[in-house]
Amino acid sequence: MSSWADQWRKDFPALRPRGKGAAGYLDSACLTLVPRPVLDAMEGYYADTPGCGGRSVHRWSTAVTEAVEVAREEFGRYFGADPAHLVTLRNTTEAINLVGRGLGLRKGDRVLVTDQEHNSNLVIWQVLARTLGIRLDVLPLPEDRAFDLDAYRRNLARPTRLVSVFHSSNLDGRTLPARELVEIAHEAGAEVLLDGSQYAPHERLDLTQLGVDYYALSLHKMLGPSGTGLLYGAPGKLERLAPLVVGGETVAWTDYRDHEPLPVPARFEAGLQNYAGIVGARAAVQYLGKVDMDELRDHMVRLQRIAADTLSTEGVRLLGLPDHRARGSIFSFILEGVDAHDVALFLDEGYDTLVRSGMNCVHSWYRARGLDGSVRASFYLYTTEDEVRRFRDGVAELARLTQGRRKASPPTRAVPQRKRVRAR
Ligand SMILES: Cc1ncc(COP(=O)(O)O)c(C=O)c1O
Repeated sequence: MSSWADQWRKDFPALRPRGKGAAGYLDSACLTLVPRPVLDAMEGYYADTPGCGGRSVHRWSTAVTEAVEVAREEFGRYFGADPAHLVTLRNTTEAINLVGRGLGLRKGDRVLVTDQEHNSNLVIWQVLARTLGIRLDVLPLPEDRAFDLDAYRRNLARPTRLVSVFHSSNLDGRTLPARELVEIAHEAGAEVLLDGSQYAPHERLDLTQLGVDYYALSLHKMLGPSGTGLLYGAPGKLERLAPLVVGGETVAWTDYRDHEPLPVPARFEAGLQNYAGIVGARAAVQYLGKVDMDELRDHMVRLQRIAADTLSTEGVRLLGLPDHRARGSIFSFILEGVDAHDVALFLDEGYDTLVRSGMNCVHSWYRARGLDGSVRASFYLYTTEDEVRRFRDGVAELARLTQGRRKASPPTRAVPQRKRVRAR
């Protein structure tokens, strides 16, 4: 059956039929597939101008230096930011670490996160609590309702240095009301760092208008090459960060005692950079520029509607908001009595369907609920309705095959605790 996704699929070599057919890739929240223009841009770097940027003066090096700045301008146009306010990094994790380490937090400074943060937006604050004595507080999110702005406002009555929260969740796809969240934080005198790694692939951002202080995102979750990401800092904010990594290409000069850091963003981009990745990521945002995000959103809703059929299968329990329109591109569930990794392997082997399983790097949330993981299907522009139907049918089949398990021992909790807990 034809799908809105068909217009894009031909551009993605990983989706070519292989063996029995094309794999149903439902793990885009982890890493998106790469279209041909991105591969061509990367090959162009290695095949035509494989120089090191910013150093040598020969023609290849000059070409690379220019290509990186042209890419930064493209990112600026795409994300609604002055290119000088964008740092090219490896990923969201690195961007959050740069802010965490660079802000100059002191003992007693309060950082607020939600109870549903990816480890990349949790561990750094735990480390700083241990090493510097910052105060890390966790705001509980209502499990079946939208974000509670009043509770958030009340929470910020306590002096807070930084609110660091996800924009969209990798666990259940919900999106937080970023603009209100930023406004309320600013009224309370706090700065805001948004983890935009799951939001940026699905919506057109205007970072300047959003008014956020810092925004972290991963370009490999939006058709870019793996290991590419960005940190945005509002005017004047990057200048206040200490670099996370220092060395070559971050300084104007050194003598044996001292050095002068380059202006931002160069002072944060230490050592030889991922030039192929950066030019590939430029091609990725150019490609995304052709996508109508309203159409993409409608497509996600269509796919969520099909995935929601899974919920009528006995033993399947949804994680996340009941309204399928509020789940973005992510469908997370538990099949009671069956280990999430076993579900994923069954879908892979029997239904050519690739999903994520485990704790989605949000161990804190699962552990607090005594859960040992869930299955997550995540969609993007190339995902078809047929792929989601195949996924749904696979889950239904496995539920039938494992019915006896649930009957034999009715679960007293969502998933029986097992000895075999895989920490992923
Ligand atoms: C919400 C969220 N934050 C942070 C990250 C970390 O992203 P990266 O591995 O690209 O640094 C992820 C990755 O899945 C994520 O989903």
